[in-house]
Parts: sequence; C-alpha cells; structure tokens
Amino acid sequence: MQHSTATLLIKNISQLVTMHDPSMIGPKTGARMNDLNIIKNGAIAIRGDRIIAIGESAKLARQVKLAKRSKIVDADKRVVTPGLIDPHTHPVFAGQRAGEFEMRIAGKTYMEIASEGGGINATVEAVRNSSKSQLKENGRKILDRMLSLGTTTIEAKSGYGLTTQDEIKQLVAIRELDNEHEIDLIPTFMGAHEIPPEYKESPDEYVRLVCSEMIPKVVARKLAVFCDVFCETGVFNTMQTRVIMQTAQAYGLKIKIHADELSNTGGAELAAEFDAVSADHLIFAGDEGIHLMQKAGVIPVLLPGTTFFLNMDRVAPARKMIEKGLAVALATDCNPGSSMTESMQMIMTLACLKYKMTVAEALSAATLNAAFAIDKGNEIGSLVPGKYADLLIWDANDYREIPYHFGGNQVSSVYKRGEKVR
Ligand code: NIG
Ligand code: FE
Repeated sequence: MQHSTATLLIKNISQLVTMHDPSMIGPKTGARMNDLNIIKNGAIAIRGDRIIAIGESAKLARQVKLAKRSKIVDADKRVVTPGLIDPHTHPVFAGQRAGEFEMRIAGKTYMEIASEGGGINATVEAVRNSSKSQLKENGRKILDRMLSLGTTTIEAKSGYGLTTQDEIKQLVAIRELDNEHEIDLIPTFMGAHEIPPEYKESPDEYVRLVCSEMIPKVVARKLAVFCDVFCETGVFNTMQTRVIMQTAQAYGLKIKIHADELSNTGGAELAAEFDAVSADHLIFAGDEGIHLMQKAGVIPVLLPGTTFFLNMDRVAPARKMIEKGLAVALATDCNPGSSMTESMQMIMTLACLKYKMTVAEALSAATLNAAFAIDKGNEIGSLVPGKYADLLIWDANDYREIPYHFGGNQVSSVYKRGEKVR
C-alpha cells in the first residue's frame, strides 16, 4: 500500500488500542465494548492533523514515506490509545462549594443542601457576579488539568447563569476557550439546569423565558450544539422538560438530558421519545427506559464520579445496559457541587469497581462511545486513517494498568491533532 508522506510516525507501541472494528460503524454496543481492536507491536502514521496509517510497527516503518522534517517517536513498548473524551462537564463556573462537601460528610443530602440555599444556585450567584474573563480564567485551569490527564475533547455546559445575559456570558466563555485552548469544547445550552431564586414561585414563567428568549438568542448566535435539561423531582418536571426539548429541537439543537439521577422521573423514556443523542446519570432508570433507549439508539452517559462524590449506595445499572446492547459512555460530570474532578482516569477506575465494567469496556466508554455521545464519532474516538490524530502515550505497557494505577496520572504524552501538547 502506498501512503502519502507522514509528518509524524509513532512506532514500537506495545499495544496500539485502535478501537476500530472495520466491520462496524457507530459506537461499540454491548459485548463489542470489550473488543479494543489492539495492534500489538504497533505503529501509527500521521500527516498534519490526521491519521494516515496504522499497522504493525516493523511493517509500517517500511511502508510509510518520511521526509527530512518528519518526526519519529519511539514509544518504547508503551501503550497508545485515542485521546480521552469527556462528554458531560460543567467546567465554566466561579467560586467553590467545599463547605457543601463537609455538610454531606456530616449527613446532609445534595437536595437538602440545595433547598437551603446551597447547590447549583450558590454557583449561579457567583457566576452572575463574575465577568466573562474571570470565568475563562477559572475554566482554563480546569482545561489545563483535563489535558494533562489525557482528555482531548469535552462537552461543556452552561447552566450557572440562568438569565439570558448570564447564560450567553458562559457560552461565549466556552466558545472563546474552545478557540484558545488545545482541548476542543462542544457547547451545550443548559438554561434549564435549575430554577433560579427569582422564579421559585413561578417556575413555568422561567420555562417560558428559556423557550421564548434564551433558546432563540443562543441559536441566533450559534453558541450551542446541544440543549440539556435537569429533569428531576423538584427541578424541571417531565412536562416542563418536554416543552423545553420541543423548542430546542425546533430551533435545531440536539438533545441531551440529565435523567433519573436522584429519582425515576421517566427521563430515560423521554430521551428515547426525543431521539436524544445521550441521556446522562440514569441511576434510577428502569428496564422499560433502558429498552426504549436501546431501540432509539440513545447513548447512556454514566457518571460514576457523581455517585462516588455524593456517596450514593445506588449506582447506574451499567451491566444491564451493556447486556441489553446499549453503547455505554463515561464522563466526569466535572462541576463544583456533585463531582469535582477533571480525571477521566479516575472515572474509569470507579466505573470498573463500582459499575462493574471491565477495563476494556471502560476504555471504549471513555473514547469511541464518548465521541458518539457528543455526535463526533466520525471524527474522533478511535485511531483509524481519516480521523484526527488525538492520542495518548501512556506510562504503561498493558492497557489494564490504566485504571489499575488509580488516583494519579498515567499519561506520558498527549497529542492533539497531530501536535504534542503535553
Ligand atoms: O450533573 N444534576 C445537575 N447538575 C450537576 C450538578 C451541578 C452542581 O451541583 O453544581 C450534575 O450532577
Ligand atoms: Fe451534570
């Protein structure tokens, strides 16, 4: 096979975890999540920002054309995987809620704290009092940590402004961070994250504001790809969620939903009804919801960092979802209240231990399936010619070492679009 000239060749890879099964398109569903499509003693050739060839190291080194300026990297028998993708984050905010952490240790629940003036609305107040540049400065620190930990693309939600102006301020911060930072940010409008204090007595009025003003303005300025709603007892009920999702869809936004996180409100069923790209959390999702999601091709995005950090005994039914043929994805839910972490590596460890996922399933969920959860499965998430060269060299010879060595950082180098960025 004749290849065009590579600008970068990474060779001598013990396990090149490609995630690419030539016999299938789409995310890895069910049992296929265990198949990482590893090339042993592999190599990968890149031209500019794209992958041009993968294969066995000795063979590829002979086949691939190199120019004088081409770079050759010896992976020294280490593992290479796609860059990690975090398909559910709230990374642009102000302040911190470490006091709530202590209150939860002392026995208060997340919802109790929220109803007593803490929770999302505490962060909303801090965000309303912050400038866009302050928000960006905070966000940049989080993105820097994510990148060092091997995350190369994230989904990023608004939802701490809850006025038209403050939601737009957050989304503009997200857009500018996307332009300025190595990490790609896929923006989600989440004006329906919480009912702001000034609408406490008239939540339907707030829903009207979201639908008649926020969504049209956000769409007019092309500030979001997705619309997300926190559908939960005491937050947005099923009726309100439906109205918001109908409006968002009519305006061309794709749908995500915080579903069945703290109680079963029929969020999974709603996700299926609206052909949502993903439904997230799903701790309390039932069999019918799971079945309908499978039929509609909705990706369950599971957030084991949240159940861990909220110290919940109950976790999402990951095993059942995989058995039923769903394409499970994982994310951090990085936010100042329920999951203050940037680490997809930690999330994989928790997914293995608490959600009983295999290491291979966790890796599929954090790469290819995560890419499909943000509708980017055709560009990133696996290492195959044509896709962007977003990849990681790990300080490991065997992929199983990744979640096994927990709480730290096993990433050795990060390549984003063919450039070494860490
Ligand atoms: O996904 N559930 C709603 N939103 C976040 C929490 C955000 C916050 O507490 O600030 C979540 O858990
Ligand atoms: Fe969330």
